[in-house]
Amino acid sequence: PADERIADLLGRMTLEEKVGQMMQLDARGGDLEDLIVNKHVGSILHTSPEDLPRAMKMINEQTRLGIPLIIGDDCIHGYSFWPGATIYPSQLGMAVSWDPDKVEAVGRATAEEVSCTGVHWTFSPVLCIARDTRWGRVDETFGEDPVLIGEFASAMVKGYQGGAKAGEELPKNAILACAKHFAGYSETHGGRDASEADMTHRKLESWFLPPFERVAKEGCGTFMLGYESIDGVPVTFNKWLLTDKLRGAWQYRGTLITDWDNVGRAVWEQKIKPDYVHAAADAVKAGNDLVMTTPQFYEGAIEAVKTGLLDEALIDAAVGRILALKFRLGLFEDPRLPDETRIKTVIGSDEHQQLNLALARESVALLRNDGALPFTAGVTGAAKRIAVVGPLADDAQNQLGDWAGNSGQVSWMPDGQPRDMITTVLDGFKRLAGDGCEVVYSRGANVVDLVPDPEGEFFPDGQPRPKVAVNAPVDQALIDEAVANARQSDLIVAVVGDVVQLVGESCSTATLDLLGGQNALLDALAAVSRETGKPMVTVLVSSKPQVLPASIVGANDVFAKRCNDPAAGAGSILWAPSPGMKGGQAIAEIILGLTNPSGRLPITFPRHVGQLPVYYNQIRGQHGNRYADLTQDPAFAFGEGESYTTFEYGDVRIVGGASGAHGAFTAADTVHAEITLTNTGDRTGTEVVQAYINDIVTSYSWTDRELKAFRRVTLKPGESTTVSFDIPVAECTIVDQDANRIVEPGDFELLIGHSSRRDDLKAATFTVA
Ligand code: IFM
Repeated sequence: PADERIADLLGRMTLEEKVGQMMQLDARGGDLEDLIVNKHVGSILHTSPEDLPRAMKMINEQTRLGIPLIIGDDCIHGYSFWPGATIYPSQLGMAVSWDPDKVEAVGRATAEEVSCTGVHWTFSPVLCIARDTRWGRVDETFGEDPVLIGEFASAMVKGYQGGAKAGEELPKNAILACAKHFAGYSETHGGRDASEADMTHRKLESWFLPPFERVAKEGCGTFMLGYESIDGVPVTFNKWLLTDKLRGAWQYRGTLITDWDNVGRAVWEQKIKPDYVHAAADAVKAGNDLVMTTPQFYEGAIEAVKTGLLDEALIDAAVGRILALKFRLGLFEDPRLPDETRIKTVIGSDEHQQLNLALARESVALLRNDGALPFTAGVTGAAKRIAVVGPLADDAQNQLGDWAGNSGQVSWMPDGQPRDMITTVLDGFKRLAGDGCEVVYSRGANVVDLVPDPEGEFFPDGQPRPKVAVNAPVDQALIDEAVANARQSDLIVAVVGDVVQLVGESCSTATLDLLGGQNALLDALAAVSRETGKPMVTVLVSSKPQVLPASIVGANDVFAKRCNDPAAGAGSILWAPSPGMKGGQAIAEIILGLTNPSGRLPITFPRHVGQLPVYYNQIRGQHGNRYADLTQDPAFAFGEGESYTTFEYGDVRIVGGASGAHGAFTAADTVHAEITLTNTGDRTGTEVVQAYINDIVTSYSWTDRELKAFRRVTLKPGESTTVSFDIPVAECTIVDQDANRIVEPGDFELLIGHSSRRDDLKAATFTVA
């Protein structure tokens, strides 16, 4: 019936009404009546709930066909722009959990909160692969591995869409998901946002497309295109990617949306189209449906059809897909307007806060424990004083990260999220420290100063960006005060990181160093720790892996290649990427031993920015594939993360499943493997067991390790279990020179263990005939 109703509507719509349907405009500050009545606009983003009943009334009373609006917004790790909404760890934080079930629950809870505000659609999740971590949007990704990204993206889409499969109507408390940014946007030049992507079809097929293919086939309602160009063609105009690949090879039946003014930028910025008529025509021909925030698309597309540059049938096809989306939400029967009662009970509910805390506990990775953790003296009363030091220790808004109503760029909501919903690290220690244990805070350093932008840069809608961040100077008085505090305390907790003015879209960084006075502060605290023997923990609360100074991470004399000598560094290290409203509670619980850490790195930590790219699954090179002055060994590898207990792995056993001659597997088989895992420590703990495949000899250059599967396993002290994996041989592929995925006969290694480091993995071989 939806198809019939779509055909009926299309038959009755004027060209102007159809082109209007393809437009998504920003409702803030705009004349809503003009957008709806004169421009027939099909979708708006960034709106306020008061506008929505008014908008629907205009649609019903002042438009011929009464086609409902579809409302989209960026609800990235919770409903970013809704004061009081639950803000979870960033996607990168979520990925530290290696727990797709929790992430599905977050998607579900976010959909509950968002759907009651009248918003139908979130521009989330991000499926980009973070390799050059100077890029400003690393925090929005699930890290560097396509399988991990695919697992999380699939879980999140399921959560948002309430489990609705391709084409099925969404439950009322669900929202449409948007897989973005299709595809290769993160493969930047030098980490700079929206640069030409350094990309080939083979590279796309090898790493960047698989997570998108997975969610396309699982029914993710929409896809958003990246800003970048591939082989000289901006993705927005890339017919091969949009039409041949996505809609053709993958049979995707959902709806596409451009990113912000992608069509307009082709004219005024990239100068790749002579005018808006050609830009509109070529965007439609490539396969776009909704065009985000390019008002000129309206006149451009109409003119293109009238002058014969564009076939109206292509407009009909795009509008058909947009209407299908509206039917998928049942908007013609129920426009899903804001529901005041649900807003009061659902947004920021206790249940969602509990889920947030449970996820935050898993979203912190213990990167190094020098033996002082857990610091149980802090809860038993044995310790008298804890120094909580550093600019991120009590910074509620920066702890949330980007897309939390607090970004330097998101100036329309300057106050961010309510302070009383956020537990900073300082709050966490104050709440949890035992009787008689005083918690004393020192800021210790500033990160950036905000100054008027000397270059007068403009941010999307033409408003001058009021202030830019510059590196703050070292403030010796702040350091001295922090050092005095540390000297009088039993534990030094230094909380450092980055701030939202240096994170996000158009906010890439040239270095990964801690800015402002932070390195000087850490050096001074490390000296106190070394001199006095007082335990020290460095907590990095940041949007991306940052480079810690040698005083903390160990000898970092890159020229001598002496690296990571823990004896030369101070204390223990925790990483909590934008850990959300409950982050400070989770961090304090872990340091005090109330929670056993279980986070694992979804992304590699470099020891120096010059190592980039340093991701784990790089293609095998030859002997010269290294620097003369710098090891390529990272500070912390993909998959790493410590626990307060210890685990022992037995040998990998491949148990049957081979149907070919001489015990060989065929491409149709599944490799069933088992390993015995034992908790050999004295605490209950969770291990993330990781399974990698190494195709030993390949006809085309390839990596020697690719993650294929993982399991979170919780064991009591002394407990053992069998962990099993089923890996289809069809997934043990490489990509040939024509970008085809193939399984090559020969020997493979199945590697199972604690992290991507070879030393952490046990191997068994199998043969594919
Ligand atoms: O959804 C975002 C996208 O990720 C980056 N550009 C703006 C869009 C809408 O806010």
